[in-house]
Amino acid sequence: MQQTVLVIDFGGQYNQLIARRVREANVYSEILPYTVSMDRIKSYNPSGIIFTGGPNSVYLDDSPTITKDVFELGIPILGICYGAQLMAHVLEGKVGSVNHKEYGNTPINVESNSLMFSDLEDEQICWMSHTDQILQVPHGFEVVASTDTCPVAAMQDKDRKLYAVQFHPEVNHTQNGQKMLENFLYNVCGCDKSWTMSNIANDSIKQLKEKIGDKRVLLALSGGVDSSVAAVMLSKAIGKNLHCIFVDHGLLRKDEGDQVEAIFTNGFDLNFTRVNCEDIFLEKLTGISDPEQKRKIIGEEFIRVFEREAKKLGRMDFLAQGTIYPDVVESGEGHAAVIKSHHNVGGLPDHVDFEEIVEPLRDLFKDEVRKVGLELGLSEELVYRQPFPGPGLAIRIMGDITKDKLDILKEADFVYRDEIAKAGLDREIWQYFAALTNTKTVGVMGDERTYDHVLALRAVTSLDAMTADWARIPHEVLAKISNRIINEVRGINRIVYDITSKPPGTIEWE
Ligand code: XMP
Repeated sequence: MQQTVLVIDFGGQYNQLIARRVREANVYSEILPYTVSMDRIKSYNPSGIIFTGGPNSVYLDDSPTITKDVFELGIPILGICYGAQLMAHVLEGKVGSVNHKEYGNTPINVESNSLMFSDLEDEQICWMSHTDQILQVPHGFEVVASTDTCPVAAMQDKDRKLYAVQFHPEVNHTQNGQKMLENFLYNVCGCDKSWTMSNIANDSIKQLKEKIGDKRVLLALSGGVDSSVAAVMLSKAIGKNLHCIFVDHGLLRKDEGDQVEAIFTNGFDLNFTRVNCEDIFLEKLTGISDPEQKRKIIGEEFIRVFEREAKKLGRMDFLAQGTIYPDVVESGEGHAAVIKSHHNVGGLPDHVDFEEIVEPLRDLFKDEVRKVGLELGLSEELVYRQPFPGPGLAIRIMGDITKDKLDILKEADFVYRDEIAKAGLDREIWQYFAALTNTKTVGVMGDERTYDHVLALRAVTSLDAMTADWARIPHEVLAKISNRIINEVRGINRIVYDITSKPPGTIEWE
């Protein structure tokens, strides 16, 4: 059975980060809510448990808590921040608020003979963020780290394998945080490094083989990272019993449809159908300016095309989805939305007859999906592709959409991407794209007056698309991009750079 470390979530903002850090240490982890039953915890036979932080005060009546039984299972536990205070509180130590809120990088003194801190210097820089703190450790515990204002920065009960840290080892600001977590995982929990990319890929393929047997699977392939990796994994498991439908709505970036087709028809063993329907989509979008209406039309039309093509293939036993682990966690444990929309434009048909859903990436974080994709033979270019909205360029053309505008935008966006890649900025910028504004301005080219479109360049840095900052692209690079676009793309005579962050802006223009 796979060694598992459970991350019990008490509402902290870093819950997913903790689980990811554990996996980076090559140990499988899952996140469960603090309301989980003891039986459920036991059913995992976990090698260790980590309590996350959280925004509450442990001593208040309605704060998230956990029964004392969890400490009697004989399973090693690490409490982080709120989790540390909760351990102290439930085991009858003392937690209270202090006047001096501790926040930020903090020097702390650690006992290097503690298993948590082995091979580390006595002085460490750790990330603190708390107002409450442990005032008195429970019976059986000893203090193993402290700061000037926080006498119990870490405590342990070695015999019961209970550990607690007031700071956040999971964030990068804690300089040796990963080492501390690894110390807990390897030294205290006795975990091996068994969660590796090749194991993940092989195990997943084996499981898919067992689950699907010789039945038939249908997948909507968008060319994005998740559906592509799902397709490759399934193809390795069931080969030609996988049928992929790629609805090319014509709103992808320049040449992208052809690239997707080339990858999946040449490189992998599966059935691939590309449906070219730019004309249909453009016709349905004629005269439509409202962004939400655009999304709705594209979503509905996508479903119609997909359904029609699926019918031609005959009965399918499974519908495959590219759901990934954060979708599962965010939608409440274990109950991911039954159908994740193919690329978030509206969902797949609910009246197409499938026996079951299969979600090959359900247990993986995004960075793991990428690594598995590489392991399975997808190119870096595809695997590190920037996020791209399902409605595609339709929401990057302000106002109504015409074939002419679409072609102009594709060319301009292509030049932009080319220069960003040449400048070596493509990995550090989260998303970068051109948007065609609904404005024309006067210009002069050669001796002629022009009256053409204004193109906006957008580039943002972000970790999760929830917030974003506009990217500080060097002026020389911007100058080159501007020059090339004006010279090479007809129909554009002015270029502006978007310097709005999110909030208050959004990443996309529509
Ligand atoms: P915003 O513009 O809301 O975008 O800051 C956040 C992230 O979501 C993407 N996005 C979409 N993705 N369908 C999608 O599949 C959509 O309708 C859509 N709208 C925005 C956007 O590219 C960014 O990554």
